[in-house]
Amino acid sequence: IQKKEFNELLLAWYHREKRDLPWRHTSNPYYIWISEVMLQQTRVDTVIPYYERFISSFPTMECLADAEEEHVLKHWEGLGYYSRVRNLQAGVKEVVENYGSVIPQTRSEILNLKGIGPYTAGAVLSIAYGVPEHAVDGNVMRVFSRLFLIEEDIALPKTKKIFEQRVMEVIDETDPSSFNQAIMELGATICTPKPRCLLCPVREFCDAFEEGVQESLPIKTKK
Ligand code: ADE
Repeated sequence: IQKKEFNELLLAWYHREKRDLPWRHTSNPYYIWISEVMLQQTRVDTVIPYYERFISSFPTMECLADAEEEHVLKHWEGLGYYSRVRNLQAGVKEVVENYGSVIPQTRSEILNLKGIGPYTAGAVLSIAYGVPEHAVDGNVMRVFSRLFLIEEDIALPKTKKIFEQRVMEVIDETDPSSFNQAIMELGATICTPKPRCLLCPVREFCDAFEEGVQESLPIKTKK
């Protein structure tokens, strides 16, 4: 893949077509963290009003750290997976208490926080801080399995490393935030399970499209 040409096409498309989402108007790492936790198991349209309400009620990490758990849970009612918000509050308390209310800017430090796994770590580091880090979830694996015709089983935990390495090979170091969000956007709007390849800004780089096998990827055995 020619990295420079790929990123020019991808990022131009992203800046032209990206959805206007509330967390795309901020680079506050705390707000990015909240949005990514909400988006982990919940659709964008559902998340938007919850995100707006949550940041109005808990505008700073100190506010969330000091809030009663019961009050915080009320803001999550309907989103489900309540351990997500308990972990978020616990992680935020750690940042307030141990890091002077500044979310750490390295993968190794941020991964020590409660509720931050490899995906959230990469999303916060890249989107909020502009650090070139991978943020690989199921959507990103779908996009990359097609671009590079990767036939590894994405149900196997060890497969994720392969994708993380591929992302690091092509990530735009000048704008990692837009790069990761562009891949997410492509996965959400174009490179969907039934892909709309004729609208894809990077189809000339797509090995699966070239072979006509995009609809058979990614390969996923169990679940
Ligand atoms: N899904 C996960 N993270 C997202 C983001 N930042 N924007 C849109 N969809 C997402």
